[in-house]
Amino acid sequence: MNEEPRYNDIYYQRTTHHSQIIDIVQETAIALSEFRAPIDWQVLFDNMHPVEIDIGSGKGRFLLETSRQHPKVNYLGVERARKYVDLTRERFKKYMRHFSVDKRSGTFTNVRLAWTDANYFLTRYVPAESVQAYHIYFPDPWPKKRQRKRRIFRNHDFLSALTRTLTSDNGKLYIVTDYAEYFEEIQERLAAYYDDNPCKAGANTNPLHRVSLDSSGYEHIETNFEMKYLLKGRPIYRAVYEKM
Ligand SMILES: C[S@@+](CC[C@H](N)C(=O)[O-])C[C@H]1O[C@@H](n2cnc3c(N)ncnc32)[C@H](O)[C@@H]1O
Repeated sequence: MNEEPRYNDIYYQRTTHHSQIIDIVQETAIALSEFRAPIDWQVLFDNMHPVEIDIGSGKGRFLLETSRQHPKVNYLGVERARKYVDLTRERFKKYMRHFSVDKRSGTFTNVRLAWTDANYFLTRYVPAESVQAYHIYFPDPWPKKRQRKRRIFRNHDFLSALTRTLTSDNGKLYIVTDYAEYFEEIQERLAAYYDDNPCKAGANTNPLHRVSLDSSGYEHIETNFEMKYLLKGRPIYRAVYEKM
């Protein structure tokens, strides 16, 4: 439990100088540095709907399905790999061509992509108490021992930003992984987070509570990785936390 990644400014300069916010429908890509921090969701999405964030959105399968099903929720996919950002844009475009969705229809106006590092983005750009839900599906498990320090749930700043930015009225954190050992670690770290950082958590008790999947409103939408692993017959682990 003591190995933690060190995210310093040089790391961020190397990994985030290109950061952009992309509107897939309008085909715009604006440098993140053009935005005032923290971001005003109402201005970004041009409405006051709740905001949910998919961290490590990969090829965008979850983002496409969920944004289609919930047009009154705004979705932001945060992905640091350019290759996956491009694949996501292509996936949406293909869908729009296939189903003749055009710019006027309003479909997918509730989606933006952030091509950036999630730690960087959450700690600097996401306003407090402004996110209705985080979806973290198949976070990189970094299975080699010497690489485990890169696990996103090992970063205290990240845990602190997650907790700070979720809405207090039952903001949700949805986690899915196929990696049993990492799943255990995530639960331990979320349980220990408050004990280690009572000041950062800014509450008298740990604000994040694990709740049952059934009562949480969790909707099963398969991501690319989930489809792949289900085909291989791998067990999948799911947890939902609520901020109270
Ligand atoms: C194993 S894939 C899962 C993708 C998708 N969620 C799914 O279930 O199909 C993990 C994704 O997280 C992205 N990722 C890892 N660390 C990240 C970070 N710090 N910020 C943003 N994206 C990250 C990777 O580039 C990769 O696309």
